[in-house]
Amino acid sequence: MQSQSYSFQSQGLLRPPSSDTKNNADSSEIDRRQLLQQIVLFSVTSFITLPEAAAAAPLIPKTTKSTATFAKDKFGSVLIAEQYVASKPARDRSLVFGLKDEPTYLIINEDKSSLFTFALNAECSHLGCIVPWNEFEKKFECPCHGSTYDAMGNVLRGPAPKSLTLAHVDTDEESGKIVMSPWTETDFRTNESPWWT
Ligand code: FES
Repeated sequence: MQSQSYSFQSQGLLRPPSSDTKNNADSSEIDRRQLLQQIVLFSVTSFITLPEAAAAAPLIPKTTKSTATFAKDKFGSVLIAEQYVASKPARDRSLVFGLKDEPTYLIINEDKSSLFTFALNAECSHLGCIVPWNEFEKKFECPCHGSTYDAMGNVLRGPAPKSLTLAHVDTDEESGKIVMSPWTETDFRTNESPWWT
């Protein structure tokens, strides 16, 4: 406890101990309250000024969706949209780590100029197997029980009961990183509420 007090004092947050030997219970109570206030203040300011926090700040996507995250490649590196698009062919569907690090397909548009503004979660809606993209057949084919999905993730053949889950895809204005966030609006493929929410 003494070392903590010293630490706080070294931060200039505590008054030095009084030499007045007449301290009574009231002043002790005030000191305790002040100490608590200072600890709270110290905690808040420490959190804000920690180098780690400063370093992590750019990793927070500029989005109102608190569960947004950056897309990552198989090595766990955050993907930069411009570089990613430049490295892929038109209409490409490649797996990345998306929301909650789940395998997710990012899609390049027809003229290879940008990403689609939605991505497809690669987990089959039947029992959750990862569905590979068949470039030749232009569809997703589940290896577990034979379900297939079209290029937009709609079910072509069961037993999969539902389409592939959507996620929003955006680009962070400052860093250029690919931002993913949950799709909670109407599923534009079915005009229905998303089954995954
Ligand atoms: S898990 Fe995909 S069809 Fe069963």
